[in-house]
Amino acid sequence: MTPLEIRPMEGAGAEVRYVDLTTITVGDWNQIEAAFANYGLLIFRDQIFTETDHLHFARRWGNINVNRFFTAHSRFPEIALVVKEATDTQNIGSGWHADHSYDREPALGSVLVARELPSSGGDTMFASMYAAFDALSSSTQRALEALHATHSAQRSFGTAAIADGDSYAGRLANADIADAMDDVTHPVVIRHPISGRKALYVNPEFTTGIVGMEENEGLALLNQLYEHCQLPEFVGQCTWEPGTVALWDNRAMWHLARNDYPGERRVMHRVTIEGCALEPAVRPDKADPTLAQRAGRTLAGGLITAAMTGIAEVLEPERIRQDIEIVSEAPEREPLPDLDFGNLPPLD
Ligand code: SIN
Repeated sequence: MTPLEIRPMEGAGAEVRYVDLTTITVGDWNQIEAAFANYGLLIFRDQIFTETDHLHFARRWGNINVNRFFTAHSRFPEIALVVKEATDTQNIGSGWHADHSYDREPALGSVLVARELPSSGGDTMFASMYAAFDALSSSTQRALEALHATHSAQRSFGTAAIADGDSYAGRLANADIADAMDDVTHPVVIRHPISGRKALYVNPEFTTGIVGMEENEGLALLNQLYEHCQLPEFVGQCTWEPGTVALWDNRAMWHLARNDYPGERRVMHRVTIEGCALEPAVRPDKADPTLAQRAGRTLAGGLITAAMTGIAEVLEPERIRQDIEIVSEAPEREPLPDLDFGNLPPLD
């Protein structure tokens, strides 16, 4: 028998071959667990996977968290349907996100199974928030470790979001629940509960601001971070085949579903696994007191400038110069440089 093979993918994640997820040996399971902690994304190929197999595999990682907003499978309510009909123009999950970051205890991970694929396209992209954090300068890392961010389900799943657009009816539900949900806060940099590594924990779809910063300042900082997180060296791609199963860690990865198969149907089954409250990478009493104090003030321009300056160190100078003026010495309360908000998604 060919031994299980774990092959790192370009950018993010690893592909796993020569394992049958319905009959995993103890030795293979140990390797899969270790690979999950290490890569945060595992793509399994050539699986013959019923709905029951799907649920059984997900339960090995924890309890199932039934998604409130996606239409459920008619016979297996713990399975969420991620569907785009041939007549739909919008797909679900087209923006970078981490599933359930709007929950107080965000999901550990998700298991996605391809059920009906378009003739081409429909890949899922993943970005490693370990790698994105590791690539920041140490001054930026320290600045970010002092911060918390707010996350909300309302912008994506609330009444306004569902009404806006041609085709979410029948695919997304319970907008009233999203409308009524309180925003939650999580550390901007978490200590990952499984690997113990530091990871960025903000995402374009569900993060709405930085605690203690004016809205525009928080968004400016988030926007710069998002640009950084999408650099090709942190991004991996899953091209689906019949029999592909993806397992990812929502505390370590962003993902998005590409919408590049007009006129064709795509059906995916997703099961989401319960997680836990997230701890900051650095205990609040150990975070840099100056930065924490500045973040708590209403005007946090100095912190933003400092953080952007750090980010500028790791981004290509030409690209960053298009968006912000690089400030080498950031005086306290320096006014914000001009920012291009052209691509910023509307809030509220
Ligand atoms: C999701 O966002 O969970 C779905 C991803 C996909 O359909 O590829």
